[in-house]
Amino acid sequence: MALKEEIARRRTFAIISHPDAGKTTLTEKLLLFGGAIHIAGAVKSNKIKKTATSDWMEIEKQRGISVATSVMGFNYGDYKINILDTPGHQDFAEDTYRTLTAVDSVIIVVDVAKGVERQTRKLMEVCRMRNTPVIIFVNKLDREGRDPFDILDELESELKISVRPLSWPINIGEKFKGVYNIYEHSLDLFTPDKQRVSERVEIDSVDDPRVDEAVGDTDAAKLREDLELIEGVYPEFDKEAYLRGEVAPVFFGSALNTFGVKELLDCFVQIAPAPKPVMAEEREVKPEEEGFSGFVFKIHANMDPNHRSCIAFVKICSGRFERNAPYKHMRLGKTLKFAAPTAFMAQKKSIVDEAYPGDIVGIPDTGNFKIGDTLTSGESIHYKGLPSFSPEMFKYIENADPMKSKQLDKGIQQLMDEGVAQLFTNQFNGRRIIGTVGQLQFEVIQYRLEHEYGAQCRWEPISLYKACWIESDDAEALAAFKKRKHQFMATDKEGRDVFLADSNYVLQMAQSDFPKIRFHFSSEF
Ligand code: G4P
Repeated sequence: MALKEEIARRRTFAIISHPDAGKTTLTEKLLLFGGAIHIAGAVKSNKIKKTATSDWMEIEKQRGISVATSVMGFNYGDYKINILDTPGHQDFAEDTYRTLTAVDSVIIVVDVAKGVERQTRKLMEVCRMRNTPVIIFVNKLDREGRDPFDILDELESELKISVRPLSWPINIGEKFKGVYNIYEHSLDLFTPDKQRVSERVEIDSVDDPRVDEAVGDTDAAKLREDLELIEGVYPEFDKEAYLRGEVAPVFFGSALNTFGVKELLDCFVQIAPAPKPVMAEEREVKPEEEGFSGFVFKIHANMDPNHRSCIAFVKICSGRFERNAPYKHMRLGKTLKFAAPTAFMAQKKSIVDEAYPGDIVGIPDTGNFKIGDTLTSGESIHYKGLPSFSPEMFKYIENADPMKSKQLDKGIQQLMDEGVAQLFTNQFNGRRIIGTVGQLQFEVIQYRLEHEYGAQCRWEPISLYKACWIESDDAEALAAFKKRKHQFMATDKEGRDVFLADSNYVLQMAQSDFPKIRFHFSSEF
C-alpha cells in the first residue's frame, strides 16, 4: 500500500475520562469489535482490572492502578486503529497530557449520572489548547442518570465546546430501551447483555410505524418530540467544525452492555481525522512527506524487571519508519539504528519492519531518549512537546542514604527525563523540589528510586501554591524581581526561571507589584 493510503486509513486517538466513567470498559469493547480480543473481560474483569494488559509495571500490580500509558493497535475494516491508553488514576494526569500530544483525536467518556467531573474538565483544557477533535460518549445509560438534555447543557458549559447529539436515548435506567442513531437514522434496541451486540430495527425514519412497534407509542412519541427539539436547538452536524475542535458529536450508550459502542466506532472511523501535519519549530511537517520524522512522547521504564531498560514510545509524524534504518537523534546529534522496534497490535507487542504516520513504535532504550526528543531521517526538525503545567503538589526531596547520593542523583535525573514529575531547584538554598499532580507520584518516585537505583529518599514538606514560569522584556525588571523574591526563585530542569508562590495572595501581589513580569502557568509561552 502506498504511503498516502496507509496514512489515510489510520486513526490514532485516546480515550479520556474521569476515573470510573467507563474508559477501560469502552476500550475493551472497541478491541472486541476490532477482533483484537475475543471475549469481553479479557482486558478487564474484577481481577484482571488489577493487571489489565496495558499495565506493565510491577507497581501497578501492587496498586491496581494503571500507571502506564500504552498503545493498542488493531484493524477495523479498512482502518488501522491505534488507541493510546492513558493512566486511570488522576495522580498521573501529567502522563495523560503528554499522550494527548501524540493523538489526532479524542473520545471522552462521561458517566450519565455524574456528568462532567473534574478530571474530564482538565483534560478537555489540554484538548482545547491543541484544537484536538473530540467525540463524547455518554455512558451507563442502563443506570439511572440525568436527563440527556441537561447532560448536553452541562457538556457545553463545563467543557466549553459546542455539542451535537448524533444518537439519542429512549429512556434511561431501568426503562432504557435503546438509542436512535441520528447519524444513520436507525434504531438500536437495548438488550442488557455484556457479550452481545445490540439488536437493530430497520426503519426508514423516526416516523416509521416500526418505531412505535419496537418501543411503544408513548416512548416513540417522546422520541419524536426530543428529536424535533434537537433539530431545532442544535445546528446540523458539521464535520469540518468537529475537525477544527469546535463542536463535539455526542453518543449515548452503555459500554458494559456493548451498547452504542459499534455505532460510536463506525461513526468515529468515518469522521475522525487521519494523521495531520505537525508543526515543528522549523516548519510544518506533512505526514505524506518522504522523510521520516517522529517524536518521543512517553518513556516507559523497566517493563521487564530482569532487564534494566526502557522503552521510548515514538509517534511517527511523517514518512515511513523502517527497522535498522539510520535515523538522526536531533538532541544528541547522533545517528542511531534500531534493530528491535516494536509495534503494538492486538495487545501484543512484536518487532516490526516498518510503520507509518499515526503509528507508535516502541524503541528499546538504554538512556538515549528524553520526552520530546525528535528522530528524523536527516533533516533538522524539532517537534515541540506538550508544555509542563504548574504542578499541584510540592515536596523537598532529600537523600536518606549518604552513601548513595550518586544513585539518587541519577535516579532523579532519569525519572524526570521520563516525565514522572517535575524538578525545581531552589536558587536560594539549592534544595531540590519535586512537583507532581498527585500524592501517588511521590510514592512511585520513592519506590522506583529504591528498586531501580538503590537510592533512598526522604520527603520534606514545603508549602507552595504554584510554580510559575516568569519572563520579561525588561531585563532590569526581571533582575529586580528575582532579587526581591530570591528566596522563592527556582529553576526548572531546563534552567528556566520559576517563581514559587506560596499562596494565591502572594502570587496576586507579585502580579500587581511587578507589571512588567509575565507569569505563566505552563512552560510553553
Ligand atoms: P474507568 O476505566 O473509566 O475507571 O472505568 P471502568 O471501565 O473501570 O468502569 C468503572 C465501573 O463502571 C466498572 O464497575 C464498570 O463495570 C462500570 N461500568 C462501565 N460501563 C458501564 C455501563 O455502561 N453500565 C454500568 N451499569 N456500569 C458500567 P466496577 O464495579 O468498578 O468494576 P467491575 O467490578 O465491574 O470490574
